[in-house]
Amino acid sequence: MRHLSTRSTRRRVVGAVATAVLCSTGLAVPAAAGESAGPARDSTPAARAAAPEAVTAGPKTDDGLALTPPMGFNNWNSTHCRAEFNEAMVKGIADLFIEKGLKASGYQYVNLDDCWALQERDANGKLVPDPERFPNGIKAVADYVHAKGLKLGIYTSAGTKTCNSAGFPGALGHEYSDAQQFADWGVDYLKYDNCNNQGVDAKQRYNTMRDALRATGRSIVYSICEWGENKPWEWAGDMGHLWRTTGDISDNWGSMLSILKQNLPLAPHAGPGRWNDPDMLEVGNGGMTDTEYRTHFSMWSIMAAPLLIGSDLRKVPESTFDILDNREVIAVDQDPLGKQGTVLTSENGRWVVVKEMRDGSRAIALFNETNTAQRISTTATAAGLPGASAYTLRDLWKHRSYNTAGAISATVPAHGTVLLRVTADRKWSAYPPAVELRADGGTLVEAGKRTVLTSKVTDLGRTPAQQVSVRLTGPAGWKVQATSRTTAPSLPTGKSLTTSWAITAPAGTPTGDHEFTLTTTYHSPRGDRAESVVPLASRVVVRPPAGTSQLSDLPWLSAVNGYGPVERDTSNGEDQAGDGNPITIGGQVFAKGIGAHAPSDIEYYTAGACDSVTAQVGVDDEKGDNGTVVFEIWADGKKVASTGTLTNAMPAQPISADVTGAQVVHLIVTDAGDGVSYDHADWADAKLTC
Ligand code: GLA
Repeated sequence: MRHLSTRSTRRRVVGAVATAVLCSTGLAVPAAAGESAGPARDSTPAARAAAPEAVTAGPKTDDGLALTPPMGFNNWNSTHCRAEFNEAMVKGIADLFIEKGLKASGYQYVNLDDCWALQERDANGKLVPDPERFPNGIKAVADYVHAKGLKLGIYTSAGTKTCNSAGFPGALGHEYSDAQQFADWGVDYLKYDNCNNQGVDAKQRYNTMRDALRATGRSIVYSICEWGENKPWEWAGDMGHLWRTTGDISDNWGSMLSILKQNLPLAPHAGPGRWNDPDMLEVGNGGMTDTEYRTHFSMWSIMAAPLLIGSDLRKVPESTFDILDNREVIAVDQDPLGKQGTVLTSENGRWVVVKEMRDGSRAIALFNETNTAQRISTTATAAGLPGASAYTLRDLWKHRSYNTAGAISATVPAHGTVLLRVTADRKWSAYPPAVELRADGGTLVEAGKRTVLTSKVTDLGRTPAQQVSVRLTGPAGWKVQATSRTTAPSLPTGKSLTTSWAITAPAGTPTGDHEFTLTTTYHSPRGDRAESVVPLASRVVVRPPAGTSQLSDLPWLSAVNGYGPVERDTSNGEDQAGDGNPITIGGQVFAKGIGAHAPSDIEYYTAGACDSVTAQVGVDDEKGDNGTVVFEIWADGKKVASTGTLTNAMPAQPISADVTGAQVVHLIVTDAGDGVSYDHADWADAKLTC
């Protein structure tokens, strides 16, 4: 959701979420279910006792592999274990790598994930490719991709079985034989997972496979996949070329965001031949918007993450290729200096992340985590560039260059990222000045009521912006009127054109987001015309009724949930809509309320007309003895009530908050700092009085 205002966001930055979330049965569930990185792990006391001493990694020979983050494809995110994962798919992807120019853009590895083998080894202890999926074996597939100048990757687990519940053979105790078999097939990349590891020390398990791969004499990129459980960034640099830092990604905003936040702080550990791996891309799988997928791709690139396409390219829309094949963004990821970008600032969901590039320039991501458009700013020198009178600023999604006197600032749509590359060079004078275009107000609109919005065009360039004009267009039928000037003959560095607008939605306009476009056009001193456009959204809202209402009967403005959707009058249930149970806390059943899952943020419009929110809160009984959460109520960006940590063992607790005068109220659930596993959180009997 995007809104016209840059001021209205109260969404707090939800803290990093634990890496692995297990379902209550303790069984492995597919990662796509969202609540799982959840392969079965053997951590019984017996297994732990049997664990040998940790082995420290020997030095990785300078094998020259993965000097930039690996790029390619892996089937898991799109197929999991389904039958469509087969030879035809793998070949089809290899074909598209060539046809669509992805190979030319750097995509190289075509990787098979779990489920390629049969459950039983053969009489000689060799792995057997599933004849249904791979009737011609793996070598035939390797030959096919090699003939196209591509490389083949494969998967197994550093355990007795792989992660899929069908239980395919793992390599623990078979490392040398399996590695040799992979090498004989012509495999170029191994993803080595962590399931069913029998409690054997991770370093030892991953070290043995490193040695086994090396013993084959074949160059094989080694991808360590123990989900960050043993902090591989501290020990795997000399062992593998990349290591997963988190649990499994799934194709939704919350999952991607949580992984991003876990991976960002690990920047110091990355470098050529040793990469943090925040898991494979979801771009194209359909669970996020293109804006969110551009953020995913931008942030993975600025983090120098492996870029492994996780969608079935035979089925994706053209817009997926526009994202995955943006060579200017790929160049950020693949920069040979090999630095992972670091967080320069992060405040209320507005992030500035900076990556030093080999040519001395800086890639800069202005990333908006929040649900409303946000102004995000920094400067060239803050980003590490030397002082200069002007810089070249390149927008890597718009593919346009500008000059800036040093200020870097943009209105970034909700969940969006503006990705820039800023260079201290002399070329800046060839480009028009960068302008910043922003809007304040107009976020929440009641139909039939006039609302004021203020736009501001500011020249960030060293050169003046000339013949400046601004226009705001809204949906058909809306009244949009400028009530002050919309043009300026010339704006020198740092000066602005401010315009007031009156907007009115026709009576009866349906609730929800309605799109606006704010556009400025201007000319450089050389006469070149430039344009800057900011998409905005105004949300039509309805005042809550006077008196006391159940919040589960009122529409919310937005609802973010850690797992599955927020439910009305039932618990969270599992990941599907409508799969909740009667709300039950400590045995007490409630007819009304809201079923959430940490981290959660539900936003209501209160129109400055309400007084209080009350509820009975607690962890739902549906997950047994598990789950710890904190409930909070926020009114216009201020925390007005909080429970402290609640566990599943506790009965429902009352919470109440004074929300007098607030325009917007948020119901927030955090994971209480211990990860989100089992955090099924109920707002029972949640009432709003206006
Ligand atoms: C684990 C890994 C995933 C995937 C599956 C396959 O969950 O983390 O990336 O390989 O196993 O079963």
